[in-house]
Amino acid sequence: MSFTLKGMGSYLPSATFTNDDMAKIVDTNHEWIHSRSGISSRHFATEENTHDLAIQAAKIALTDANLNAVDLDAILVATFTPSEITPSVACRVADALEARDDILAYDLNGACSGFVYGLETANALLSTGKYKHILLIGAEVISKVLDFSDRRTCILFGDGAGAVVLSNTGEGRSLWSKTYRKFDAKCSLFAPGVPVNNPLVSHEAQPQKVQMDGTAIFQFAIEAIQRAIKEFTQETGMTLDDLDHVVLHQANQRITSYIAKTFKQTDEKFVSVIEDIGNTSAASIPIALTALKRDNRLHPGQKIMMIGFGAGLTYGAFVLSV
Ligand code: COA
Repeated sequence: MSFTLKGMGSYLPSATFTNDDMAKIVDTNHEWIHSRSGISSRHFATEENTHDLAIQAAKIALTDANLNAVDLDAILVATFTPSEITPSVACRVADALEARDDILAYDLNGACSGFVYGLETANALLSTGKYKHILLIGAEVISKVLDFSDRRTCILFGDGAGAVVLSNTGEGRSLWSKTYRKFDAKCSLFAPGVPVNNPLVSHEAQPQKVQMDGTAIFQFAIEAIQRAIKEFTQETGMTLDDLDHVVLHQANQRITSYIAKTFKQTDEKFVSVIEDIGNTSAASIPIALTALKRDNRLHPGQKIMMIGFGAGLTYGAFVLSV
């Protein structure tokens, strides 16, 4: 089944915060952050919300795809930090782009696996033949829910959006994909939802900021990525040697480098944009894809593996030829 990456684009809010800037907010320093994560700076949205970033990335992706918004049959937005619960970011994007009114538009929350979960969804929709062109966006304003008094988390994340236009015409093919979830009784990566506003309900008060057990998440990420790559090899007979690029969710350069080393691959095969953007959750993979194209490293016929992993716990992998 055709699965063509017709166009892509990314957008970052203009305010940049270096590690030195973060050291003015919490007790930290550039050396600690960079050596533990590979991050030097990140962007925070000081004036825009999630849908604003999504709209900008979508416009660039549509231009790159040489399509108009009216050509779209679905708009999917992967995010765990929507501008509001409803209207969805997808509906706001559809309005802003003046998309048709007979399309599918909704948000999906797979946390940092959201873009890969979205690819799986888009692939299923495209394979029905009913949908021809789908806009899939990963967009986050994580700074809204970050705890800027917790140096263990606030230094890791950033805001941004990436978008791709996927079509069931063209030379591209989906080659293999698999999505997973893992039981997480301790909720080792947590972000708040809507505060309870009903005096009749006596829910236990939830923390209103992101909380993370960094060591547990690091271990989970390594195991998740290894499992996905091993099952890819078992089920397709291909190995990472057969692929041109591997785009891991940009959570931590140490995770990426560890996986490259474990599977005896060059660092170059593992796309890395984390240094300047931090962890942008569902946006990180499409931002990395766009960087690959911008750097003229993405060519027809190449094979790419994308792996997302994150809160839920969720993880998943998607392999395609472009
Ligand atoms: N600056 C300076 N020191 C810091 C710090 C910061 N920003 N954050 C924590 N520290 C301190 C800790 O307080 C601790 O000090 P202590 O030993 O005196 O208590 C010390 O540094 C080591 O902390 P630790 O948490 O053990 O560091 P680490 O080497 O495990 O690295 C992470 C922490 C968060 C970078 C690492 O666990 C990680 O990357 N986890 C995965 C996170 C992730 O990818 N999440 C998203 C998944 S989608």
